[in-house]
Amino acid sequence: MQQPSDEIKSRLDIVDVLREYIQLKPAGINFRANCPFHHEKTPSFMVSPEKQIWHCFGCQDGGDIFSFVMKIEGINFVEALRLLAPKAGVQLKAQNPKLTSQRNRLLDILDLSSKYYHKVLMESGQAKWARDYLENRGLEESIIEEWGIGYSPNSWDDLINFLKSKGYNDGEIFSAGMSIKKEGMGRYYNRFRDRIMFPIRDVNSNVLGFSARVNPEKEEEEKMGKYINSPQTMIYDKSKVLFGLDKAKLEIKREELAIIVEGQMDVITAHQNGFKNVIASSGTALTEEQILLIKRYCENIALSFDMDKAGEMAAKRGINQAMKAEMNIKVIELPNGKDPDECIKKNKDEWIKSVKSAKHIMQYYIDKTFDGLDLEQIADRREAVKILLPIIAKLYNKIEQDFWIKKLSQKIDVGENLLREALNDAMNANQTKVQYTENKSNENFESKKSREDMLSELLLALMIKFSSYIEYVSNNIIPDHIFGLSNQGIYKNLIIYYNKNNNDTEIDYQNFKESQPQVDEKLLNRLVLLADKDFYNYDSEHAKIEIVKIIVELKKSYISSRLKEIAKLITIAEKEKNQDELKNLMKEFKLLADEIGN
Ligand code: CTP
Ligand code: MN
Repeated sequence: MQQPSDEIKSRLDIVDVLREYIQLKPAGINFRANCPFHHEKTPSFMVSPEKQIWHCFGCQDGGDIFSFVMKIEGINFVEALRLLAPKAGVQLKAQNPKLTSQRNRLLDILDLSSKYYHKVLMESGQAKWARDYLENRGLEESIIEEWGIGYSPNSWDDLINFLKSKGYNDGEIFSAGMSIKKEGMGRYYNRFRDRIMFPIRDVNSNVLGFSARVNPEKEEEEKMGKYINSPQTMIYDKSKVLFGLDKAKLEIKREELAIIVEGQMDVITAHQNGFKNVIASSGTALTEEQILLIKRYCENIALSFDMDKAGEMAAKRGINQAMKAEMNIKVIELPNGKDPDECIKKNKDEWIKSVKSAKHIMQYYIDKTFDGLDLEQIADRREAVKILLPIIAKLYNKIEQDFWIKKLSQKIDVGENLLREALNDAMNANQTKVQYTENKSNENFESKKSREDMLSELLLALMIKFSSYIEYVSNNIIPDHIFGLSNQGIYKNLIIYYNKNNNDTEIDYQNFKESQPQVDEKLLNRLVLLADKDFYNYDSEHAKIEIVKIIVELKKSYISSRLKEIAKLITIAEKEKNQDELKNLMKEFKLLADEIGN
């Protein structure tokens, strides 16, 4: 019987799945991207749709759809199955609860809880105030349905009892963040009571936690604040989710813009009114993880935040993170300090206009900074430079930096060169650290490979891609000339496979892989992608020239190292006065030296 994992693989395209995480650009018959698993500026991450594999030539990791999803989501195989199955339209058999991972159990608890709360909201008499409240705020029933909004009854244990009836225990319910432990007594009670429940989902629409709004009538008396949120749990880390991203991601990609607002009500109102590229950071500063999450879909963000002073904003809102990730950032300013929810409800056109006329973040900073300053005053000009230069220094792109330096210099009538000098100082101050980490992460990579290793791999890659030359290669180079034991192994297997399936077309990669269970799969994947990466536009003629060149190089290299060895052995034989050995060695030495001459 077919394994579910095989069925999933056969139904999904690796390119579609990976596209949800990284920006893939066509490269010959393959795709290429910046590797999401290590820091790099030039893309060395390759994906082959034909072979359904990926490999990074920077960090040397690679594999199939499953290994990618496991790595990028930080989950194990069972969890990856659960994540990919619905995308593939594959129904997984209900699993023995004892066997499924703890993470999956917690996801089930969250999912059940959200359905429970939603049902209560729609059907229970207790939830009347919540239904009225949502209606007053303009939410339609279909949107309440779509977002799974719910209501937690004013009870100490209804949810806990419901979850227990479904087979979950106190410990798990607590770990999922749905209950609170009573000090000392070892008793648990519901974490959320008498609140409107907004499920918080990850990009794949799994519920991970809740943001729960208090009854407005209780807002004054409750000391806990307007919202209480799920605590950090094994599955929920608020710094890694963006509210609404699961519903906004396609539109964000289509419009090439992610609009970030503060509150979940803002997001939901925006979506209800057709603005579906809106997400929320849920009231906290953007984190690096969140920025990278957005970067999977596009590089442009527009912030619609309640704005404070320019200088404070960068640090507080995580905008530095976005600048570091080379995102283009704009700022949306709404008239009379309205929030998006209000603005959209009152006047859609005003919202559209404000989004269209969003300012580049630097322009926003500049305007904001000069608002309170008097350009006639030297002290004020100095103050402006002090605020703005460190921000310009954070811009990743040199051309952009230059542009804003010019702007600033015009505005305050100070020479560009002076500003540039000051900028360099500011940059040196904040860059030493970054460089250090970059170098470090590159240490184990490519550079450690010897030239001969690389050449051997290229030769194998060419043999796989242009298999009609396998015979030629095997007649002109012996396995000893290939560097690296694994490379030699693959070399021998290729020749055996080729002779068995004698044909002139490209090697059937899948077939070859399956017929050689002993070869290192990772290395093999690497080799086929290497061929596509370096030789995708080679024709047969061109390939032949390359093959000849590499064979010559490898032989030379082999011979010269053998010559060195023989020279050593000759000295030893001379010392020991071993005439026979000496004669043989001299003979070999001459043979090899002649060959190099050729
Ligand atoms: N927030 C929170 N705790 C609070 C207040 C706010 O966690 N005590 C978070 C919520 O995620 C909220 C976001 O910060 O969505 C933005 O806050 P705010 O703008 O006050 O909330 P809204 O979603 O706009 O809610 P409402 O319009 O109902 O006041
Ligand atoms: Mn609001």
